[in-house]
Amino acid sequence: MSAVTAAHAPALTVADPTFGDDWWQRGVVYQVYPRSLQDTDGDGVGDLPGITRRLEHLRDLGVDAVWLSPIYPSPGLDVGYDVADHSAVDPTYGTMADFDALVAAAHGMGLRVILDLVMNHTSDQHRWFTESRRSRTGEYADWYIWRDPSGVDRRGRPRPPNDWQSFFGGPAWTWEPAREQFYMHTFLVQQPELNWRSPAVRDAQMTMIRGWLDRGVDGFRLDVFNAFFKHADLPDNPPIRDPRRWHGRGAYFRQEHLYDKDQPELHDWLREFRAVVDERPGRMTVGEQFSGTGVTGALPFVEPRHLVFDFRTIETPWSAAAWAESQRVQDQGYVGDTWPTLVLSNHDRSRQVTRLREGRHVRGLDQDALAKAAAVLLLASRGTPFLYYGEEIGLGDSAIPRRDIVDPPARQSLLQRLWAPWWNRDQCRGPMPWTGGTGRGFTTGRPWLPFASDSGTRNVAGQDGDPRSVLATYRALLALRRASPALHVGASAPVAEGPDVYAWRREHDGEVFLCAVNFTDRETAFTLPGTGGEGRAWQVRYDSVDPVRTEPLPAPGSVAMRPLEALVLEPR
Ligand code: GLC
Repeated sequence: MSAVTAAHAPALTVADPTFGDDWWQRGVVYQVYPRSLQDTDGDGVGDLPGITRRLEHLRDLGVDAVWLSPIYPSPGLDVGYDVADHSAVDPTYGTMADFDALVAAAHGMGLRVILDLVMNHTSDQHRWFTESRRSRTGEYADWYIWRDPSGVDRRGRPRPPNDWQSFFGGPAWTWEPAREQFYMHTFLVQQPELNWRSPAVRDAQMTMIRGWLDRGVDGFRLDVFNAFFKHADLPDNPPIRDPRRWHGRGAYFRQEHLYDKDQPELHDWLREFRAVVDERPGRMTVGEQFSGTGVTGALPFVEPRHLVFDFRTIETPWSAAAWAESQRVQDQGYVGDTWPTLVLSNHDRSRQVTRLREGRHVRGLDQDALAKAAAVLLLASRGTPFLYYGEEIGLGDSAIPRRDIVDPPARQSLLQRLWAPWWNRDQCRGPMPWTGGTGRGFTTGRPWLPFASDSGTRNVAGQDGDPRSVLATYRALLALRRASPALHVGASAPVAEGPDVYAWRREHDGEVFLCAVNFTDRETAFTLPGTGGEGRAWQVRYDSVDPVRTEPLPAPGSVAMRPLEALVLEPR
């Protein structure tokens, strides 16, 4: 077989029997930050018709599903993660008819649509909260986490019920004079926490979920799902006294979060939720582990057909040994009915080419070479990959002047002059550059955030048709992955674990692949193992440095791997 170049896999229709109900295990999900993919009305903000317009790009790329970050009406204090109505579409993005058109167009191309459900909290502008804050009686009175003060301080002011802190800074409790009670919020003051112990809240949310399923939605990402339940008695969280164990900035990170997340009630909830989703076969769900402890913290909350973002891969630095360790932990953890996720970027973290180049281990790596090598790690490892828009062209973070910061915790930490400022998430949310022209094919107006500084040359049009581009790499790897069960569902075993090269084997039903990545920016020798077949050499199926390489490689034998070279090999 010849090396796979930019060949596009044939599009699958949603009803395709070969793709079955477990498409989410074999497939690849593409995350869209709706404000930043494509603007169609010139307001500088992306919208739903824009996403519909770009579905062909996703189909040609070869992904299986598109996950939309929140599209619901929102005052935008947490840029959409503060939802004012879970069952509607924010007019900034369009109408419900636009949404239906998007789903129909996606399904027509064999692409699934996944929505982001933010159900831990709502916006303080949500009607449930405006009613709830009014009085201690009434239909919505217990829909949020309300508590009496624990006493008064020396100046006679009410004291919060316990020591819990907000992840975004400040206490997790805000006083509401109308009720003379505090309400709880893990995030902003304007993001009050829902009370999942209320049957009425459960019913309302399950009804909302059924409504989206009825509209044809194929799955959900659950925002901070492990925070839904808090301990019923609201005990104080114990302090962490050893500064070496403070894994973040601010008071939140100086506590052991024993009681404000990861409560056992979540198991029942997940089963109930999955049962609702399973009323329609073939729907996928993935929960975002919030402030978690990686694979160990995620595993208890992985249910059959329910994935969890443990963020192990996004937190792994650019090092062969570190990546080998990360894969070992995932491979050994996710067995039986459980299945890992693979993530290198999302709307909360620095994009991989920026983050990994600035890492402790290496500096100044070539951006394209790094993007391609990282793509092999993401798309040929065991698990469901989640791509973040722009990574298919090797997009890096945008530079945002301090005075223009939009991201609320970043603004807040700037205003409060915190000792260690919050990383400004606007940097990874920049608009997608489609062309090198004015507005980069994204907008005819003024973009809501600046483009990455190299977007004049790093854009989709500039890479389309270039077999050496990052875009061609993603297309080739996605096509190869789709055509090869060993690469999507196969078992994985390490072959080399550093210091320079990480190599691993994927295998399924007699199909075998050997993948290897040189993490260094110098040439390094790598010893190829035998293929397992007498006299059979290794055939190059993908080479990040030479995408048209065809000569066989010796098995066993030594190969000189070029700087940041990534290889996917198959026995000939
Ligand atoms: C999740 C989202 C993040 C948001 C937070 C609060 O972590 O990914 O963007 O700020 O939840 O909703």
